[in-house]
Amino acid sequence: MRFSFISLLLLVYIQQSNSLSDEFLGSSGKHLFHFVHVTDIHVTHFGNADRMEQFEQFCNQIIKSMIKPQVTVVSGDLVHNRDHTFRSAQYKEEWNIYKNILMRTNVTQHTQWLDMRGNHDAFNDPNPESDQSFYRIYSNQGPLHKGSYQYTIKTNDNDTYSFVGLDMCPRPGAGRPFNFLGIIPTDEMNNIKDLSQQTKTSNTTIFFGHYPLAFTYSKGLMELMAHGIVYLNGHLHSGIKHLYARHSDGLLELELGDWKDNRRFRLITIDSGILSFEDFRFDQTIYAVISNPKAAKFKTPREPLERLSQSTHIRIVIYSKLPIVDVHVSIDKKFLGYAKPSIDNEHLYVLPWNASFYNDGSLHDLSVEIRDNQNNTIKSENQFSLSTSTITAWTKSKIILIIHWPTFGMAAIITGLCIYIIALSFYRYRAKRPIACCGSCFSLWNKFRLRMMLLCSIDFYYYSLMGIALYHFIGPWYFGYLTEGYIGAVFLWGTVIRGIYLPPDMQTFMGAIQLALFLYPLTLCLCSSCYYRYNQLQSSLNLTESRCDRHIRIFTVYILFVYSLLFILFWAFVTTASYKLAFFLSPFGLTLAIFALFLYIKSRRLKIEDFKFQSTPNSPGSSINESHIDDTDQQPIIAGRRSGVKDH
Ligand SMILES: *[C@@H]1O[C@H](CO)[C@@H](O)[C@H](O)[C@H]1NC(C)=O
Ligand SMILES: *[C@@H]1O[C@H](CO)[C@@H](O)[C@H](O)[C@H]1NC(C)=O
Ligand SMILES: *[C@@H]1O[C@H](CO)[C@@H](O)[C@H](O)[C@H]1NC(C)=O
Ligand SMILES: *[C@@H]1O[C@H](CO)[C@@H](O)[C@H](O)[C@H]1NC(C)=O
Ligand SMILES: *[C@@H]1O[C@H](CO)[C@@H](O)[C@H](O)[C@H]1NC(C)=O
Repeated sequence: MRFSFISLLLLVYIQQSNSLSDEFLGSSGKHLFHFVHVTDIHVTHFGNADRMEQFEQFCNQIIKSMIKPQVTVVSGDLVHNRDHTFRSAQYKEEWNIYKNILMRTNVTQHTQWLDMRGNHDAFNDPNPESDQSFYRIYSNQGPLHKGSYQYTIKTNDNDTYSFVGLDMCPRPGAGRPFNFLGIIPTDEMNNIKDLSQQTKTSNTTIFFGHYPLAFTYSKGLMELMAHGIVYLNGHLHSGIKHLYARHSDGLLELELGDWKDNRRFRLITIDSGILSFEDFRFDQTIYAVISNPKAAKFKTPREPLERLSQSTHIRIVIYSKLPIVDVHVSIDKKFLGYAKPSIDNEHLYVLPWNASFYNDGSLHDLSVEIRDNQNNTIKSENQFSLSTSTITAWTKSKIILIIHWPTFGMAAIITGLCIYIIALSFYRYRAKRPIACCGSCFSLWNKFRLRMMLLCSIDFYYYSLMGIALYHFIGPWYFGYLTEGYIGAVFLWGTVIRGIYLPPDMQTFMGAIQLALFLYPLTLCLCSSCYYRYNQLQSSLNLTESRCDRHIRIFTVYILFVYSLLFILFWAFVTTASYKLAFFLSPFGLTLAIFALFLYIKSRRLKIEDFKFQSTPNSPGSSINESHIDDTDQQPIIAGRRSGVKDH
């Protein structure tokens, strides 16, 4: 009994001494780690010199002199590999500029420079794994690793942090535009599995890659990231501000805006295992991150959240070009005090607090105002809660990172094609078996119905247009040198280059746009053209055309046709600019434009017997549309109907 009591005391003592030596979120810089993330640099040799100059300044001033992170993550699109138009290619010049910036600044000697390739780095690269690939020659990590890699660092506090870079570039890498989504082939998945295993025992594991997960084919990756707290990426250039999400399994996903146009970078702190971050513009004078208490909406169950309520100090990490004069802290609009630099880290500002005042499960507003000796001021704010619960309101932008876009694109184009095919079949059916129209139909809708029926009644158009629609599912859309030196073909269901199958990329989106902006308008133009041709064939009636009708005819036939033709020529150029010969060889290249022209010319030369339009069987001679379509449409159709009946 006494023995067990003593051992209990001993246990308590050991635990206490442990907690004393392991001070978490206290007044010192213990267990505070920080690193920098930058993405989408797009080094180019087509002008934009300031992009590269400022990047060099960033390496020299911010990385080497000011923030001095032990690790810098660069998540892809190191070089632009694109010209002023729509063409992409591997440019050695640009890779050289990137390499030279790293050499001149010597930045890789001052920080672990973890660069990873993105889709621009893999444009027109037939074999990104090979030693000939420019990324493997000119980047910092490329020469060391074939694909994904990990780097683990042990700090002076004996904490370990692992960084796993995920390489999701397609192999082979096509030119733009069909190289936008990330893919993890089986080999690479096995590699990542190993890396994931190697990093399991680290205090904190950070995953990073170029693509947001919603833009990748990466089944099984979430499980491999189960011990990571965050997945950092870029790629989208933050078209939408603050593209952050917390996935249902607890993984944080943080997209960062680009260096290319927005000059963004991110400072991330991991303070006693709890991650905080802030995204900055390069030209700010003060960069600050509140590392404790952490913003409630970014809490994940994968962090030691119980440390929040045990913390003794509010902690703010501040880097600034000029000396800081004061750091004014208030909670819920009540002034709390001025934070002071900690004893062992001049960049960590601390202010003692009694966390139990705020540990009531609700949200509190923390506001920190930082001023330097030139009166530059920045205000950093967050909403925190000290409970271990992670349920908080979340921003709308999450949806972008949660929808699986490849699936969405496929659904969009298949829906578009099905609507088109069903419409053609329906009007074909109606043309053969017309029935009375409901009285409530609008005359515009009637005009459309009538024209579609006329169009679909013509065998040539019905089969041609149906053929184009069905061809989307079967044949190659584009064909040519999809990557440097290798011929390939783009299908709806994927891309084949060098005999290697890659899942569908941008073709679903490009195809859906082409459907909406070319095939639909072309069909409208053709049905109007056929309709006016039909009227023309009945010209014995010789109706005078009103000005308004003339305008309608000009718009629905000529303007719509010129638009459709120009659009498809432009679209074919945009999609094939990077692929040698593809403009001429592709079924959806020049061929489609010529075919559209042929369809149009044919519509001007139709003969009356081409129209297989039938009258209502049970009321011969009377038109279904007689009482509903307006006068100008009505007369010729009735006449036509009669002559049609005669012809049969
Ligand atoms: C780069 O850093 C290394 C190691 O710190 C040093 O030996 C070398 O002289 C530096 N080079 C330049 C150009 O500063
Ligand atoms: C880190 O670990 C080593 C060996 O395990 C030990 O000697 C050292 O005192 C530890 N450092 C700290 C700061 O705990
Ligand atoms: C990191 O892990 C070690 C061993 O599990 C532990 O002693 C240490 O307290 C951890 N550090 C942090 C910051 O949680
Ligand atoms: C913090 O506040 C609580 C009451 O909310 C009090 O019981 C406790 O003693 C305070 N702790 C310190 C260190 O002041
Ligand atoms: C900063 O502002 C204070 C008061 O607003 C003023 O007295 C001081 O001169 C200013 N300092 C500088 C460097 O502008």
